[in-house]
Amino acid sequence: MNAPILIKNLLPTTHVQQGAEIVHESAHLHVTGGATYTDDIPEVAGTLYAALIKSPVAHGELIGEGIDREAILKAHGVVAVFTARDIPGENNCGPIVHDDPFLADGKVEFVGQAVAVVVAREMIYAREAAAKAKVQVKELQPILTIEEALAAQSFVMPAKGIVRGDAAAAIAAAPRKIKGTTRTGQQEQFYLEGQITYAVPREDGQLTLYCSTQHPDGNQREAAAALNLTTNDVEVICRRMGGGFGGKEGNASIFSQSAALAAFKLQKPVKLRVNRDDDMTITGKRHDFRIDYEVGFDDNGRILGADIMLASRCGYSVDYSGPVNDRACLHIDNCYHIPALKLVSHRCKTNTQSATAFRGFGGPQGMFGIETVIDEIAATLGKDPLEVRKLNLYKDPSISGTPDTMTTQYNQLIEDWVGDKVIAQLEQESRYAKRRAEVQAFNAQSKSRKRGIALVPLKFGISFTATHLNQGGALLVIYMDGSVSCNHGGTEMGQGLNTKMAQVCADGLGISVDKVRVTATDSQKVPNASATSASSGADINGAAIMNATAQMRERLKPVAARMLRCAAEEVTFANNAAHGGGQSVEWSALTKQAWLDRVGLSVTGFYMTPEIKYDFTTLNGRAFYYYCYGAAVSEVEIDTRTGEWWLKGVDIVHDVGRSINPGIDKGQIEGAYIQGMGWLTMEECIWDKKGKLLTHGPSTYKIPVAGDVPEHFNVSLFDNANLKPTPFHSKATGEPPLMLGLSAFFALKDAVAASAGHKSVVRMEAPATPERILLACEKVRAEAGLA
Ligand code: MTE
Ligand code: MOS
Repeated sequence: MNAPILIKNLLPTTHVQQGAEIVHESAHLHVTGGATYTDDIPEVAGTLYAALIKSPVAHGELIGEGIDREAILKAHGVVAVFTARDIPGENNCGPIVHDDPFLADGKVEFVGQAVAVVVAREMIYAREAAAKAKVQVKELQPILTIEEALAAQSFVMPAKGIVRGDAAAAIAAAPRKIKGTTRTGQQEQFYLEGQITYAVPREDGQLTLYCSTQHPDGNQREAAAALNLTTNDVEVICRRMGGGFGGKEGNASIFSQSAALAAFKLQKPVKLRVNRDDDMTITGKRHDFRIDYEVGFDDNGRILGADIMLASRCGYSVDYSGPVNDRACLHIDNCYHIPALKLVSHRCKTNTQSATAFRGFGGPQGMFGIETVIDEIAATLGKDPLEVRKLNLYKDPSISGTPDTMTTQYNQLIEDWVGDKVIAQLEQESRYAKRRAEVQAFNAQSKSRKRGIALVPLKFGISFTATHLNQGGALLVIYMDGSVSCNHGGTEMGQGLNTKMAQVCADGLGISVDKVRVTATDSQKVPNASATSASSGADINGAAIMNATAQMRERLKPVAARMLRCAAEEVTFANNAAHGGGQSVEWSALTKQAWLDRVGLSVTGFYMTPEIKYDFTTLNGRAFYYYCYGAAVSEVEIDTRTGEWWLKGVDIVHDVGRSINPGIDKGQIEGAYIQGMGWLTMEECIWDKKGKLLTHGPSTYKIPVAGDVPEHFNVSLFDNANLKPTPFHSKATGEPPLMLGLSAFFALKDAVAASAGHKSVVRMEAPATPERILLACEKVRAEAGLA
């Protein structure tokens, strides 16, 4: 085999402005196959391979430990098999509540739950043995759906709610009312790189886990607890993931724990990489929601009171269901002031995989609820939904004349509201009014093809709702040649965090980005790091890096001052040099001199998000440090005879503050829109009656592909500095734009309504698959007497 061609990175060699559009630090590696993912790490001699034996039933009692050890050990190539009984310490992979055994103990609670880990000489042998193994189990009746769980009062945690004013009275007194139920579907994270951990024992009982994970610290602590080790015995390393999307926030532990157990017991390196079917069968998805609403409004469409019930399918354990459902409650308003609200959120326990984090973390589901309400109000009144949206937006109390019109249902005053401005810019850029007229003209002359258009805004709160997680750490190391190694607690999953962090670091030192390497995330470099999630990666780790570079500048100033013969206070850093007294000294000469002067060239940085103060038991207070805003226009065409549809065009205006890297942010916005559109229109999890997931591979589970991206796809960044002192005054980008995909769903509803001349109210649940579109068309046409 020829040696691979080594290509140098493409980063600029001169000091660039804040917010420069530079390429992803690994772009050259991604496109040449040179990027090392966990499975690409050269294996240590003697490496063994693991596979998981899975529960065949949704609910049952294991007979004994559930497997026949003798039979499994006889299978070809098998070296060992471990069950819950072999775990020396705590049997847990639950990220918050420790209710989640990584190997089933006594009972199984969903189809696919890991019962045992088989270790073999080759991966194929391990997988064959696992597939062949019979799980001995006494089957019990499962609870599978939200309705069954509500009826049985089966919950993973108690309900929570929000009460603002007297919603019942407001609805009773309102001139008009609507009442209904809608649903949003589950969604598979479908990261391209599947779940994997490579566990390597080290001397003296220590362990290194190379893990595709959004939360190395969680994997580290849990492995230590499982093996009766201390945290400093376990190192977790992740250079990058091939996507996570929330699916590797808590769920990576299912695999890292089993690999760690096997490696520790055998004192041999063990790799556990699951195939796609197992991955989709074992891991949690986005929570699906049932949303019941009763809303009173006036003749213009202004909401006066709302009574809303959210019920989500959480699966068999708590996982992240607390904060996910909380976030749904905190986003039930989206951009709208709801003067009186009664909101109840049920967290249903079912015998399905434990639903977990997925981009947006409950926010999209909450927003889907209120957008459905708005859409239905507009249909009832025969108005353009955009008019009703605008009428209900948050408003400055000095304009509205009502004191709380800029205050959320959880009592946070919105300080950075720009939702109306974002909408106005998008209306103009997308030529919304003209295009609506064009859509109407098309529909007037087209019999079976109908078009629809929708403009949907978004507001998304930034901060972990668990306040203590809002902290970040960094370790900055400068070598005497001036090259810099920048480490932080965040993980790279394709979102470009490491590129942004290199920019923040370079800017803080006044040097070019190519001098900075952001190294693999390593739990021994930055301890106790929060998961890279809640879109907070750049905010908290960037601020920690800024803190580190500020300290380093102070250390280097006296060195530079001596070289420049000026006062230390005069020294500035820019363009790969230190400047002062009218002269400059090159960065590499400065770092060399600092070494000669015996100045410490490594420093840690730390940051905690200020101001947030929030009671998660009552869902009340300042939950978020700031908000991100955005809006999208989607235009679609449907075939009313088949339910097929086409995305004709998308226009987006989105607020990322002062972007750290506009290229990366636009990529995030485009990708997130498509992922949100996929959730609401094509991705569908289908289960059989006994709780087996039937859609466990790309052949049956349809995600959007390149061909689903429309040619007309315009993304503008809203010109807006974050009021808060985040890095470069940027805003988080990772999750919020997923909710731009709501506009695709509501454009489809608009097209369905057009199929019956907008004479009847469309009720359509998500995902709006061709089947649902077809059925919805038939239903509205029948209601309008057009069948
Ligand atoms: N982008 C890519 N390419 N791959 C991913 O897995 N995950 C998303 C988002 N963008 C993801 C992504 C999710 S769920 C989150 S929370 C954020 O990135 C996390 O990264 P950040 O905090 O650095 O934005
Ligand atoms: Mo993202 S769902 O917060 O990992």
